[in-house]
Amino acid sequence: MKEKKMRLDKYLSSFTQLSRKEAKKAIRSGRVFVEGEPVGKEDARVGLHQKIVWEGNEVEAEENLYYMLNKPAGVLSAVTDKKERTVRELILDTNRDIFPVGRLDKDTEGLLFLTDDGMLAHRLLSPAYHVEKIYYVEYEGCLLPDAAPLFLEGLDIGERKITGPARLELSQEGKALLTISEGKYHQVKRMFARVGGRVTYLKRISMAGVALDEKLMPGKYRQLTAEEINRLKKAAQRERSDRRR
Ligand code: URA
Repeated sequence: MKEKKMRLDKYLSSFTQLSRKEAKKAIRSGRVFVEGEPVGKEDARVGLHQKIVWEGNEVEAEENLYYMLNKPAGVLSAVTDKKERTVRELILDTNRDIFPVGRLDKDTEGLLFLTDDGMLAHRLLSPAYHVEKIYYVEYEGCLLPDAAPLFLEGLDIGERKITGPARLELSQEGKALLTISEGKYHQVKRMFARVGGRVTYLKRISMAGVALDEKLMPGKYRQLTAEEINRLKKAAQRERSDRRR
């Protein structure tokens, strides 16, 4: 099979933290080597298995795609739907079979990863890996005074088991941050309901240690940096080492 090739500037901006503009500059200044030779042309075509070195470090290609989307309200966390707009339809720059890593409710905004890396997605969603998600919550109602310790102990929200330990940080009246390591259906809304609150706005701001890029307006997306991908991969390894202990 013929090896897939891509432009050198796209390769660098895909697999390093460099923007496309910075990648072009690095290439033109002779700091990028392909198979040991400096290549000064940003449109040179390179294969994913070639050795590309930038400033002395090898830049390895990821074969999978990883995006972060700032999911807007009103869009379904799905690939296709007969009636409604889906998050997959918002990612315009690839035809690959990427899918959302888990679900946010239709009215929830914020961080959603999309990828074609099935194994990573499976692990990030598996309860066994305890992947932390942080939500910014606005709510109405008066929460029980011991809501935070109750969240930490675990709540009965009608599931077979109580919820796992969750960290509730109350800031101003009606606003909170909540960190959970599970992903049960409507979990945040149900937890707040249990302690007297009604969630009026919900936004995921972080998952597995990767924060939503504040520069992304709702509906906008970008590829993850190599460092962010590594962080997700590390979060998806933890269960195995936990089990070995
Ligand atoms: N919890 C909820 O209630 N809704 C979401 O979309 C995510 C977590």
